[in-house]
Amino acid sequence: MRIAVLTGGGDCPGLNAVIRAVVRRAANHRFEVIGLRDGWKGLLEDQTFPLTRASTAGILHRGGTILGTSRINPFKVEGGVERVLENVRRHGIEAVVAIGGEGTLSAAGRLFEHGLPVVGIPKTIDNDLGGTDYTFGFDTAVSIATEAIDRLHSTAESHKRVIVVEVMGRHVGWIATHSGIAGGADVILVPEEPADLDQVAEQLRRRHAGGTSFSIVVVAEGTKIRSRPDEPEHVISSGAVDEAGRVRLGGVGAYVAAEIERRTGFETRVSVLGHIQRGGSPTAHDRVLASRFGVHATDMVAQGEFGRMAALQGNVVTSVPLEEATRTLKRVPAEYFDVARVFFG
Ligand code: F6P
Repeated sequence: MRIAVLTGGGDCPGLNAVIRAVVRRAANHRFEVIGLRDGWKGLLEDQTFPLTRASTAGILHRGGTILGTSRINPFKVEGGVERVLENVRRHGIEAVVAIGGEGTLSAAGRLFEHGLPVVGIPKTIDNDLGGTDYTFGFDTAVSIATEAIDRLHSTAESHKRVIVVEVMGRHVGWIATHSGIAGGADVILVPEEPADLDQVAEQLRRRHAGGTSFSIVVVAEGTKIRSRPDEPEHVISSGAVDEAGRVRLGGVGAYVAAEIERRTGFETRVSVLGHIQRGGSPTAHDRVLASRFGVHATDMVAQGEFGRMAALQGNVVTSVPLEEATRTLKRVPAEYFDVARVFFG
């Protein structure tokens, strides 16, 4: 059997660990594996290459993806679906393993309905996909953000400043909440709850009145600002959109920092972590999760479990229908915010 693997969407630490796991498990099943270049683009533009044990050796710990990635969606390209199916036929591909987030997996689900035998693997540092408790890449991003918050703590304290740390998190605040709790943040702002900056200023004033002269505020890039109660807004510094037509986020940290300084008079700085959270080596946790997903997805191919995605539920790797990944966003449960709030002030 010949199977193909692709990685789509934003890259994420652990992608190479999945690719390696698929190739190794495929050998047990005597499958031949080919790589598709740059996500669905590889099938649209017929860019494929063989993946072997030798070509995937030494990549377990490496960040990024040896396959390349893009946010190109065949459903948004004229004749795209027909081209994908034609190239699948031409190469004798009997199954596709699609490793991706919201965009890649929803395209996979729709292609399955068009007859493509496809298995999904959930990937995103944002951890916002449904159907799975965690995605690989998230733990690495949280570790990087936590280390950054630790470092910012000491300089904030020395200079008696407020430091606002902007982390990734487009629709949800998983990275902000986890790194905020782990790093001992004094305020955490997330997309789940539009930010009330009067309340933030008041929280900081109270903390500083109590004798503390510095604070750390963590804000997820997708946090909206409640300027008027009924009209929360995104703050973005660039009007640009990405390949998938989504607005490019970034800028809320600088806005929050300026508003804190204006409202409280406390000297404030901002630090935007950006793509540092996505680059480099995956943590041990993410390498293990990625390897488990890769092995499981290849077994799903062997068993003909198409139209489904490997998923972590509790500590068990299982599978769910592809549409479960994208049907609803996995928001941070209120319990996490309750824990975080205990340490504010
Ligand atoms: O979806 C993951 C993510 O890292 C988001 O948190 C962020 O908004 C987006 O990707 C950034 O994408 P790009 O690499 O295209 O700037």
